[in-house]
Parts: sequence; C-alpha cells; structure tokens
Amino acid sequence: MSLPPRVASLGAVSLFLFGSGLSACSESILNNRAAPATGGGAAVDGGPIPGPVAGGAGGGGSGSLAAAAKASGRLFGAALNAGHLSKDASYKAIAAREFNYAVAEWEMKWDPTEKTDDVYNFTLGDQIADFAEENGMAIKGHTLVWYQATPAWVKALSTPDAVRTAMNEHIDTVVEHYKGRIRCWDVVNEAFDDTPSAAHRDSPFFNQLGEDYIAEAFVRARAVDPDALLFYNDYGIESPGPKLDAVVDLVEKLLAADVPIDGVGFQTHVSLDFPSGVQLAGAMKRITDLGLMVNISEIDVRLGKNGETRDMPTRLDLQAKRYADLVGACMGNELCESITVWGVTDQYSWLNVQDFDWAGPGPHDPLLFSSTYEKKAAYDSTLAVLLGE
Ligand code: XIL
Repeated sequence: MSLPPRVASLGAVSLFLFGSGLSACSESILNNRAAPATGGGAAVDGGPIPGPVAGGAGGGGSGSLAAAAKASGRLFGAALNAGHLSKDASYKAIAAREFNYAVAEWEMKWDPTEKTDDVYNFTLGDQIADFAEENGMAIKGHTLVWYQATPAWVKALSTPDAVRTAMNEHIDTVVEHYKGRIRCWDVVNEAFDDTPSAAHRDSPFFNQLGEDYIAEAFVRARAVDPDALLFYNDYGIESPGPKLDAVVDLVEKLLAADVPIDGVGFQTHVSLDFPSGVQLAGAMKRITDLGLMVNISEIDVRLGKNGETRDMPTRLDLQAKRYADLVGACMGNELCESITVWGVTDQYSWLNVQDFDWAGPGPHDPLLFSSTYEKKAAYDSTLAVLLGE
C-alpha cells in the first residue's frame, strides 16, 4: 500500500494561508523554509519502516515485540533512562532485546540539554543514542518545545524577540547535534490545555509569540535536519473532545500554510476503563485522513484509580485487554508507524515513582514488564496483536 498524497509528496511546494490570516512572521519563515523531508516514502503494512532509520531499526531479538512490529513495517519503542541503562543490567538487556525504537524519557528535553542559556549538555542524551545505535534501534527525539521542562531562564524572558531567539537557538543546536541520528522529532509537545475550550497553554512560547510559535518551531527543525520526520505530540486526544478538535484544527492550519509536519503522536496514558480502541482508531483516522502519519507515542495503562474495587487478577487481565485493544488501533491504520511504551519496567514507571492527582493512588504498574522483569499478561496480549493473532 502506498502513502496518501501528503506523505508521498512532501516535496510539493504550495503555500496556502491560515484560515485566520497568516502573520507576517509565519509568512516569512514559510517562504524561507528548507526543502521538506522525503519521509522515506514507504508503506507501513508489511513494507519497510517509513522515514529515515539512521540508527537502524534492526533491533529486537527473535520473538520480541520489535521483531513482531517490524514484520508489519512498524517500530516498537520504549522510553529509556540513561541512569537505569548504566546501573541495571536486566533493564539494559530487556531494552536491547525487546525494542527497535528508543526515546529518552527526560534526557533530550530543554531543561537537561540547556539548563543555562547557551550552555549545552548532551551527555545523558548521547548515552541513550549510543545505546540505541549499538543495538540497532532507531531513535526518536523528545522534545524541542514544551511548556514543561522549560528552564527558569526561558520562563523569565519577557519579549517576543528574546523568546524567539532562545527557541530558535535551542532547536538549531539540539537538532544539529543529533542530526543524522534522529528518525523523528516530537517538535512541539502538549500545546493545548485541558479546559473545555482546549486553549493554548500558558507558556513563554505562546505568551510571547502567539500560536505561530508552533509553525516557527516546525519550520526551524526542518531547516536544520531535513531528513527527520517532524511530529506534534499530545495526550487526551485519544477520544473525541475539544483537545482532539484543537489538534485537528492545528494540523489543518499547518498543512494549509505548507508548514512541514509529518505526523501526530497520541501519548495514550490511559486508565483501565477509557478510552476504547475504537475511539483511538477514530481519533487517529481524523489525522491520517489529512495525509499525516500517527503513532502511539507514550502508552501506559495504569491499574490504580480512585475508588478502585476490582481485584488485582481482574485488573491485570483488563490491562492486557486494554493494551491489545489500543495497540490494535495502531495496527489497523496503515499510517500508524510506531508504538512506544513509556518505560521498560513497572519498577521505574513515572506513575509508580511520582504521585499525580489525576492518576489517583497506585500501585499503577502500567507497563509490559513487572518490577522484577517478568513478562505480564499485557506483554503477551500486545505481542499477539502485533503478530496479527
Ligand atoms: C515525564 C517523565 O516520564 C518523567 O520522568 C518526568 O519527570 C516528566 O516527564 N508526557 C510527555 C513526557 O510528553 O515527556 C512525560 O514524561 C510524560 C507525559
């Protein structure tokens, strides 16, 4: 199967204006943008993995999640932590065996890479990239512009020029550093809030530059690394609602203005009860109908919630069904190019080591491997869906 026109003809040059009117700034950056990526031009189902796979995507032992995903032309990834890779041999061995896509859980964000203006530190991010390449894994970059993990010095900037300069220099330096190694960047993360109007989040970027910061970031990233795929990434868009509408609207505006965006990531941090695979499939279709790719970018299915009464075997069984259902939504869409779990083992899951009001009390144990590295029922159900069983 071939990709739809948007993905197949990323080189086409056509400039449409934002429905709301293109600002002078967007107009100039759009006119000056570099040639778009080829996107690899490959089909997903059964074909080669789409997009540049500089780091490999050969990773994954036989019988692994990666091998099963690869047979359908997809990547199966995990968020990795440099500290665990260096200290925990079991973690490292399972990461190398099961996955062919690596994303840094923290290490490539703005705070760890440029905590002080113009002082860059790529040590930990490089450790993850090196591990990925040593094991034949492709690498996803996460993330360039986000309202969180933004250093204090960026938050203190008080003029549009200062924020624009900081954002552009950060994108230039980080994307250049990893150029040729990163298959895909999450360029902008979580731009919209959780209010009924899904408003743009309060951030130095939106506050100083307005919504055009998003287009500017994508154009900038493409100019630095024309071969990397560029994705917008968010949570709470896995079912119908104002945030999904806002993201669809954003994508339509970006495409109409010929801004280089290749896809949308659905984080998929979900509970035992919501959303359904049918809902996720429908949400993804709204994006792929526009000609973009999609992925499941950060899936975890938490066991705990406020008032939970079901016993643990029931919950683990339900978790397995939920993984199968949601991963199945990706498998059912030829433009869903990868599935990434947000961690390797329950032991280190962000939902187990931190408390969040929205998640309620744990234990959440939301991943595919237990804290002692046993394969959970969710591992088996996920593997079966990847294998088409
Ligand atoms: C989280 C990490 O898992 C934590 O370790 C860190 O403290 C905060 O960030 N959406 C995202 C991810 O895009 O970057 C977040 O990762 C989880 C939610």
